[in-house]
Amino acid sequence: MQVFEKYKIKDMELENRIVMPPMCMYSSDNEGEIKDFHRIHYNARALGGTGLIIQEATAVEPRGRISYRDLGIWDDYHIDGQKRLVESLKKYGSKVGIQLAHAGRKCGIRDEDVIAPSAIAFSGDYVSPRAMGKEDIKEVVNAFKLGAKRALEAGYDLIEIHGAHGYLIHEFLSPLSNKRDDEYGGTLENRVRFLKEIAGEVKSVWPEEKPLILRVSASDYADGGIDIDEMIKIIELVKSDFDMIHVSSGGLVLTDMKVYPGYQVSFAEKIRQLCNIPTIAVGLIKEIDHVEDILNNNRADLVALGRELLRNPQWVLNEKYKTGKKYSYPDQYFRAYR
Ligand SMILES: Cc1cc2nc3c(=O)[nH]c(=O)nc-3n(C[C@H](O)[C@H](O)[C@H](O)COP(=O)(O)O)c2cc1C
Repeated sequence: MQVFEKYKIKDMELENRIVMPPMCMYSSDNEGEIKDFHRIHYNARALGGTGLIIQEATAVEPRGRISYRDLGIWDDYHIDGQKRLVESLKKYGSKVGIQLAHAGRKCGIRDEDVIAPSAIAFSGDYVSPRAMGKEDIKEVVNAFKLGAKRALEAGYDLIEIHGAHGYLIHEFLSPLSNKRDDEYGGTLENRVRFLKEIAGEVKSVWPEEKPLILRVSASDYADGGIDIDEMIKIIELVKSDFDMIHVSSGGLVLTDMKVYPGYQVSFAEKIRQLCNIPTIAVGLIKEIDHVEDILNNNRADLVALGRELLRNPQWVLNEKYKTGKKYSYPDQYFRAYR
């Protein structure tokens, strides 16, 4: 089965095609450090055989947090805890990525300096952000670079830049949240500039042989917002900077989204085919036959299981066992899977 075949991208070789996508656990504290919860939570998925684990949104600046319990990578003091986490996940056979994130106008922390491309609130429940000046842009771009440098020190195999779900980078990309009239707004090239600058700075410290990937929302599901055709054009402009695209959707504005198993797979397929870049498909996928269908029909290169892995951390081991074929299992669990 293709799902249990190895996959290599740059210097990173995965044991299988299953990815744990970033999922905020809001289980740190105001300091943003890794806690016992994170060690147990992520290690359970590593022991369970997950090929690639991408750590939840990790803020590159304190004002880039969604909540005061987010993980952070805005200071050197974060490196130690992350290093220990990465070492143990690797010991149990997973490769480990980190999602570098900035919440922009979706920062939900009272008293933070909430910033965005334009002073437009996400909704009535959020504060109105301050429109970023050129100095703010430089600062945030540099924060992503420093975050990447720390991620390298901590030993992560992969960086995912969070460009989805209505957070800061997505806010620059979408004409619904970006009303700027300088070189960061207006035309598509201008709206992509902030992301291009971040990618450039991250690449200046992140080794060429390690994968750098981008998470996007392929559709805003709203008039005047990004749709898949515009996302294809965006990817064309940035694909030389990234090795893979993790294809999600929505989150920029409140809107009705029709969700069903695989609802975002056609986006991953289109980006893969039209932009000629590997993709990760995600979205209400839980059945192995569905995963195999996606892989065998070349609709995506990897498949992420989010909530399914929250319910079932040993998805990979259990699915291997159900095939009745011989696979390797952690030594400690040998008696359960023989
Ligand atoms: C509890 C939870 C937290 C999430 N946090 C993040 C996050 O930190 N970054 C991100 O890009 N997506 C986040 N997501 C979205 C997931 O990565 C994934 O795309 C989504 O859950 C759809 O996949 P699923 O149907 O397999 O769960 C989160 C989802 C859940 C359920």
